[in-house]
Parts: sequence; C-alpha cells; structure tokens
Amino acid sequence: MSAVETAMRYVLLAAAACFVLGLHLMNHPARARRGNQLSAAGMAAAVLAAVVLLVADGAITTTGWIVFIVAAAFGATAGLYTARRVQMTAMPQLVSLFNAVGGGAAALLAVADLLHPGAAGLPARVSLPAALDIIIGAVTFSGSLIAAGKLQGIVPGRPIVFPGARALNLALGLVMAGGAAWLIARPDSRVALAALVLAALAFGVTMVLPIGGADMPVVISLLNAFTGTAVAMGGFVLGEPSLIVGGALVGASGGILTKLMADAMNRSIPNIILGGFGTGDAATASTAAGGGSVRSVAVDDVALQLAYASRVIIVPGYGLAAAQAQHELAELGTVLETQGISVEYAIHPVAGRMPGHMNVLLAEAKVPYPQLKDMDEINPEFPQADVALVVGANDVTNPAARRSGNAISGMPILDVDRAKSIVVIKRSMGHGYAGIDNELYTDPKTGMLFADAKQGLAALVAAVRTFVA
Ligand code: TAP
Repeated sequence: MSAVETAMRYVLLAAAACFVLGLHLMNHPARARRGNQLSAAGMAAAVLAAVVLLVADGAITTTGWIVFIVAAAFGATAGLYTARRVQMTAMPQLVSLFNAVGGGAAALLAVADLLHPGAAGLPARVSLPAALDIIIGAVTFSGSLIAAGKLQGIVPGRPIVFPGARALNLALGLVMAGGAAWLIARPDSRVALAALVLAALAFGVTMVLPIGGADMPVVISLLNAFTGTAVAMGGFVLGEPSLIVGGALVGASGGILTKLMADAMNRSIPNIILGGFGTGDAATASTAAGGGSVRSVAVDDVALQLAYASRVIIVPGYGLAAAQAQHELAELGTVLETQGISVEYAIHPVAGRMPGHMNVLLAEAKVPYPQLKDMDEINPEFPQADVALVVGANDVTNPAARRSGNAISGMPILDVDRAKSIVVIKRSMGHGYAGIDNELYTDPKTGMLFADAKQGLAALVAAVRTFVA
C-alpha cells in the first residue's frame, strides 16, 4: 500500500468516526446542528479521499473522469438546489427522493461489480452481499419513488390494491430468492442479474402501492433504513469499511426511528410492510365525537385568558407547520414569559408530518430548548395548566384514542383535555390526518378560535400586548 493510500485510509476512518460522533450529537436539539455539520464534513472528507484513491490508482480513463465530474457536478447541484428550496411541509417527499437515489446508487454499485469481466471468479463473500445489495437497493429505489409520488399527489394517495396482489408479491419474492441463489453460485450470469433487478424493482412498487399516503412517513423511514442497509452491503462488495460503517449507522438509526414512529402511532411494522394498514386517512374514518356543541371564541377572549394565566402549555401540531406560524407562536410565548407566565411546549412524537417536525420548527423560531417537553414529561402537568393552547394540532390531542374502535385507538396522546381550560386555534372543524372527529372540540372547557394559525397568533400577540401594556 502506498503512502498516499495509507493516508487516505486514515481519512476514511476519520470520516466514519465523524458519522458516529455526528449521530451522537444529534441526540439533543441544541447539538443537532453541530452533529449535522460534523457528519457533512466527514462525508466531504470521504468523497475527497475516494477521489484521491482513484487518482492514485490511475485506472480511470479520461472518459471515465469526464463522466464522473459531470455526474458529480449535476448531483451536487440538484441536491443543493432542492434541499435549499424545499418547503418544510414537502420535506418527507424530498427525503423519499434522496432515499431512492441512495438505494439506486447502492444497487448500481453491485450491478457494476457483477458486470465486470472478472465477475465469474467472485467468491460468495462478495456475491452474497452483492445480491442483497441489489435486492434492498432496487426495492428502495422503486418503493421510494412511489412513496414520494403518493405524498406529492402524483400517485393516488389511497391504498391501491388489485386482485392477486399477494400472489404477485409471493411470486416476486420467489424470483428474488431464486435469482439471488443463482447469482451467488454464478456471479457472471446476466439472466440471474436481470431477473433479480426487475423482480426487486417490481416488488418495491407492489410493496408501497397498497399503503395509504397517510402512512407514508413511516414507510419512508423504513425505506431510509433500507437505503443504509443497501449501502452497507455495497461496502462489503467493495471491501470498503467506511461504507459499511456509514450504511450500518443509517440502517440502524432508520430502523429505530421507524419503530419509534410506529409505536407512537400504535401501528406495527410488519403490518406496514404487508400492506395491512395505511387507510389511516378518510378511508377508515370513524366518528368519535359525541356530537356536543362547539364554543367559538374571539381573539380578545383568548388574550384575556392568557394574560391572567400563570401557567400555559402550548401544543403545536401540523397546522403550525402548514401555516408557517412558528415565529408568531414564539413571539406569543416570549410576550407571556415577560409577564411572568410560565410557558411550555408539549411535543408529541408524531405531531406534524415527519419525525422531530415540531422541534425543527420551534428551533427555527429560537424557542428555548428547556421549554420543549416530551409527551411523557408534560402529560402529568396538564391538570396544573391554566390554559392549554392547541395550535394546529388535532389527532395528537384527540381523547378518542383512549377508546377502542376508531382509527387512532391506542395511540398515546397529549392529555390536553385535563387542563383547566383549552383553546384550539385552527381554521375549521376539519379533520386531521386520521380523518376522524376530535371530541376535544366539543369539551365544555374548550374554546375554538377559528383562524389560520399565522393570522390568529399574530392577532393574539397584539391583543395580549394591549392587555398587559
Ligand atoms: P393533524 O391531526 O394532521 O391535524 C392538523 C390540523 O391542523 C388539521 O385538523 C387542520 O384543521 C389544522 N390546520 C391545517 N392548516 C392550518 C392552518 N393554516 N392554520 C391552522 N390550522 C391548520 O396534526 P397533528 O395533531 O400534528 O397530528 C399528526 C398526525 O400525523 C397524527 O395522526 C400522526 O399519526 C400523523 N403522522 C405523523 C407523522 C410524523 S413522523 N410526525 C408521520 C406519519 C403520520 P383545519 O383544516 O380545520 O385548519
């Protein structure tokens, strides 16, 4: 090994250490940004080291370099452009597209290895991970494209089921198992390679189509874990430890996140994969409200209530993100705090449309981290709250979850109904993601402030200011 190669191997090792440390830093919102930067720096160093290794190797032709430079420039520009332009509400689709690209790239890596003239002599320790890489990567590629399409409205969001779907899935599973076994025995077989790639691509489509768009975020998290696993397999194919470390980290953390999300929604992961649910939107809607009357309140009433409270718990939800009202909400919190009123933010693990959605929004508005409370921490505090102010949250506050027989039965919720009084800011009596009525809205303690979250909060800030002036 030359001195340059040795040095680059150390750089790759350092990059892998950056990934581990970066992930560790992301454990806390205050350090998450640094964690992200460290991981990105590790990735930049890894790419640089890979390029230096290619140069030192001298095996790439001029055409190869042109293709490499053009592809890298295109990929980097497209990635940067979309990541900077994307709306927070469209983030799940973008993550899904990135998963597709990651899974597809990992699969292509194994395909390229198997198309290599020397493929016939590949040992099973290479051809086995190569086959797994192709299966997982190709399933992730096509599955993620369908998931992104469902969220973007390009593919119908409802579960798409057709007669014989299960039999087709079984047949595709058999083709994948047979193709993989064949490839492991004969790594140079083009027929086995083509069968494996096509069956895996088709399986990705048939796996995601029967799942409702409403449940796509969980599926995307699962596909994210698949991407990491495919990349780790690619690392085994190339004998590249930094790919194995990076891929394993994504695979493991994606898997844990999927489990946490599924638990927080009271769903099971096997059910998701088997397409046993996903009708969480209107399709399984069941009415939960007791049909009581709704009390509408005016901005001034709410402002007065807040100004005279000593403890307020704010419950943000998807509507806050949709309205991009985080700055107005933070301003309201600051105004109340300066009056000596205790303000806390109750964060449900699946509030919004992606993991950590509320944390990201509130961090953007510079809400102090200590004011953000997890569900388990804040739930015992609701009975002491003078006002629970719900902003654009619906399902995560719905007491119907405590009963059986509806779309959110068993889902842990924020115990908003136990507060002394409740104010809900939303535009209408419209349903949330689960498509069911919220009986919190007909609770006699609840006042509904019907408004867009941004406009309602801005009016509330102004009104509270006049009361406390
Ligand atoms: P939802 O139950 O989806 O309710 C959001 C509410 O926001 C709607 O009822 C809507 O009512 C209101 N809204 C929309 N735009 C608004 C605006 N501009 N101003 C004010 N209000 C607005 O939200 P949630 O309580 O955050 O619950 C999240 C749901 O998503 C859960 O069911 C969860 O299982 C699901 N989910 C979450 C995730 C993750 S990872 N977070 C992943 C998958 C699924 P109006 O139309 O009447 O205004």
